[in-house]
Amino acid sequence: MFSSRNRSIGRAHSKLILIGEHAVVYGQPAIALPFPTLTVTCAVEEIDTGIYIESNLYAGPIEQIPERLKGLATCIRATLQEINKHYKGFLLKIDSKIPIGRGLGSSAAIAVAIVRSLYQFFKCDLSGSKLRELVTIAETYAHGNPSGIDMESVVQDEPIWFEREKGIESVTIQSPFYLVVADTGRAGDTRSAVASIKENIDKSPLETNQSIDKIGQYTYEARQALLQGNLNQLGNLLNLAQTELDKLGVSDKGINHLVDVARSAGAFGAKLTGGGRGGCIIALAENNVQAKEICQHLNQNGAVSTWSFKVEETQKYHSITS
Ligand code: PMV
Repeated sequence: MFSSRNRSIGRAHSKLILIGEHAVVYGQPAIALPFPTLTVTCAVEEIDTGIYIESNLYAGPIEQIPERLKGLATCIRATLQEINKHYKGFLLKIDSKIPIGRGLGSSAAIAVAIVRSLYQFFKCDLSGSKLRELVTIAETYAHGNPSGIDMESVVQDEPIWFEREKGIESVTIQSPFYLVVADTGRAGDTRSAVASIKENIDKSPLETNQSIDKIGQYTYEARQALLQGNLNQLGNLLNLAQTELDKLGVSDKGINHLVDVARSAGAFGAKLTGGGRGGCIIALAENNVQAKEICQHLNQNGAVSTWSFKVEETQKYHSITS
């Protein structure tokens, strides 16, 4: 359809929140990990006129992008304004392997890949702060009141400790472990899950804030457990955080079922990851064999997809990029 000339590619990986989701919106810390198995690439190709998007979510001119993707269109326009270079037209080919609405950071990863690809296309340097500024445009549109953890964790290539307004620190991982990720097959709605907790705070402030504080406390303890390589303790903390997320109303029957399956298959601990009310769970395993066994049980008991991967000890990751 288009005769293309120049071509450049931007990439991003998905992410997992190990512990701390939702509480992080209220200033508590959270720990997030890169999930390198699922990635998104955006290829920019020069065409004669106009801006076109080709993806499995939408294909067509930017002017006709559907409402739910308007954040991406705004992010693309803001990026072009920032780059401020002449162009005739281009086609953005987005290929995302990250399922949408599963708490894996798909919207942030797509925006990161788009911004990176455009900077690459125009051969401009992209600072970390500019990337965050541009991606925040898309994320605010998608999530309403994002803490920023999604964006940080898809930008970073190593585990991070994240606190809203304070930024990120590295997390020391003493011994490697395996994480299983299982998809309920249902898209969650992070925006409404976040809004529901706000409503709970207004209605029952004491109870709700207690759960938020407890999740924060478990996150501090999880950092210690990672530092000490104590998987039993880490698993226990994941379970405790899941109890509080359930109390907050962001878990559901399907998630609780998969969490139970993972635990009875021998996981050290299991919980939802991300916004909840659908989406994915994570489960902690000691080694690859155990992780594969847990995946098998989850596949046989309702999970739509499962993945497992090794979380390396800290030395194996690159240092945090600014
Ligand atoms: O976008 P999700 O579903 O991975 O959720 C992000 C984590 C939340 O704490 C639920 C929201 C936020 O902005 O921090």
